[in-house]
Amino acid sequence: MIATSTEDFRRRARARLPRFLFDYIDGAAGDETTLRRNVADLQDVAIRQRVLKDVSRVDTATTLFGRRQGSPVVLAPVGLAGMYARRGEVQAARAAAARDVPFCLSTVAVCPLEEVAPASRAPIWFQLYVIRDRGFMRDLIARAKAQGASAMVFTVDMPVPGSRRRDAHSGMSGPNAVLRRYVQAALHPHWAWHVGLHGRPHTLGNVAPVLERASGLEDFMGWLGKNFDPAIQWRDLEWIREAWDGPLIIKGILDPEDARDAVRLGADGVVVSNHGGRQLDGALSTIRALPAVADAVGDRLTVLADSGVRSGFDVLRMLASGAKGVLLGRAWVYALAAGGQRGVEQLLDLLNAELRTGMALSGATDVTRIDADLLDRR
Ligand code: FNR
Repeated sequence: MIATSTEDFRRRARARLPRFLFDYIDGAAGDETTLRRNVADLQDVAIRQRVLKDVSRVDTATTLFGRRQGSPVVLAPVGLAGMYARRGEVQAARAAAARDVPFCLSTVAVCPLEEVAPASRAPIWFQLYVIRDRGFMRDLIARAKAQGASAMVFTVDMPVPGSRRRDAHSGMSGPNAVLRRYVQAALHPHWAWHVGLHGRPHTLGNVAPVLERASGLEDFMGWLGKNFDPAIQWRDLEWIREAWDGPLIIKGILDPEDARDAVRLGADGVVVSNHGGRQLDGALSTIRALPAVADAVGDRLTVLADSGVRSGFDVLRMLASGAKGVLLGRAWVYALAAGGQRGVEQLLDLLNAELRTGMALSGATDVTRIDADLLDRR
């Protein structure tokens, strides 16, 4: 398959996936206003065209949290990826390692830490959700440590799930939704076979121990509802800071005030993110929120960003607007569904080629030195 854009992968994913899974990935909260803004506002950012700057060498390598990587990109944590391709998280982690960028494993991944970390050639990042059972969170942190995870991403923009209409239509969410329904019934039998989930009772590896202790897979949504903790506050995060001595990154920050709180907590990084428009519909696009957050805390911790990134030029826009690294969400998921590990590698190659071209044509030769000087504000 020749793919020349994220949209090519998206179309291929739409053709392959059962509709409810495609909608789960592609959709967002409410009227999907924030999702559209993420993409449109990002594309609105103008980059300065510069000439005669000797761009015979362009370097995309950077260092995030003490580790050098080939480009400033990270694969964002995405739930249920093992439903989009066979052992999907393993395939994506291998693609990321092959292209020298970090892969971040979601709490609600199909493949557990103990499967993904050993299968990847490079250390993975692990994403943690706020779960009421602090003992279980401690276990997850210990498991991540035991598997050599090199960073912990703590996601804070989901105290309650966003209202996602496409999922309500498809049965992915709503009062009668149970994971069993979409894994075992709605997941078309041939697709379940294709991705290797046919007949597996427990599909979400990281949380399988507590699912088993509860009433099993069929009560996963109930478990989530009961266990995602809406009462969480900044001071509740202090023990996480103590339990995890590696780099701690707070994901889901849009407001400079919240970013300052992350500094006070002692976080090493923040991800400026609105969860790809999947949580608060009506929230500001990430690209518009990013400069103020970077101004407020950029000298005290590492500012990363995501939401709406579909091309290497978008990566460049995020960097020029204050991010030191950029997370890809749907882009890698479409590529995984479209072509497995190879698809994700192709996507990463494509975005890196676009980033290099964009840098050369704007006179930037070192990705670590990109700043607001690259923005054309006319
Ligand atoms: C996500 N995202 C997400 N974030 C997280 O911290 N834990 C998770 O389990 C998930 N799950 C998830 C599933 C799917 C299908 C999507 C599309 C997204 C959010 C993700 O990490 C990232 O913030 C957004 O995807 C970024 O926006 P774009 O790049 O998709 O526009």
